[in-house]
Amino acid sequence: MAFEEKPSVCVMGLGYIGLPTAAVIARSGCHVLGIDVNQHVVDTINRGEIHIEEVDLDGLVQGVVSRKLLRASTTVEPADVFVIAVPTPFDENHAPDISFVLNAANKIAPVLKSGDTVIVESTSPVGTTDNIKELIARERPDLKIPGMTKKPQTWQLPIAPNAFCPVAYWKSWYRTTDRSAASHRAARARR
Ligand SMILES: NC(=O)c1ccc[n+]([C@@H]2O[C@H](COP(=O)([O-])OP(=O)(O)OC[C@H]3O[C@@H](n4cnc5c(N)ncnc54)[C@H](O)[C@@H]3O)[C@@H](O)[C@H]2O)c1
Repeated sequence: MAFEEKPSVCVMGLGYIGLPTAAVIARSGCHVLGIDVNQHVVDTINRGEIHIEEVDLDGLVQGVVSRKLLRASTTVEPADVFVIAVPTPFDENHAPDISFVLNAANKIAPVLKSGDTVIVESTSPVGTTDNIKELIARERPDLKIPGMTKKPQTWQLPIAPNAFCPVAYWKSWYRTTDRSAASHRAARARR
């Protein structure tokens, strides 16, 4: 893929973080596949509608779905950039439950290819990226894993800083910042 081409993006989890993220990236011209375990969420978005309350998000989603830049599914497909935006609730012991994140990583692993970027947008405790790396190393021994080899990395695992509230999120800062695409291009430029 040439640098000037837009990367394809797969966003895991289409809630208050994942859906605006998917829609804003799609508006930048990337083809985005949104994945959710909830069929109602998938069907609603594919109709160009939204299932959450977010100011002005309805028009944005309607626009990118009608331009065929955003579609939703329950099944992961290959992409250049994966964004994990699934929940990380607290469990009964008040510890963060990262099982949703690991479930999402498990679904990404079979379609991950050399040069891809996986971004963890979910709020996650320290060590979660190591858990993801170990999971993908187990599932995909054919891929070189970041930090687990002295050879050049063949995929990237950045974590997004947790520093915004959803309403302001896509309307101000994020709408002018294509973090997934920028990260992906930076990763390619480093190789
Ligand atoms: N990085 C940041 O700046 C930032 C900011 C705010 C919140 N967050 C975090 O983002 C995460 C998502 O928050 P939210 O408010 O969007 O949650 P949400 O509950 O609104 O949406 C999560 C969606 O993920 C879906 N889902 C659950 N498991 C899935 C799986 N395995 N595969 C695909 N989809 C799955 C759910 O059906 C739901 O639609 C949380 O961890 C939250 O703390 C991050």
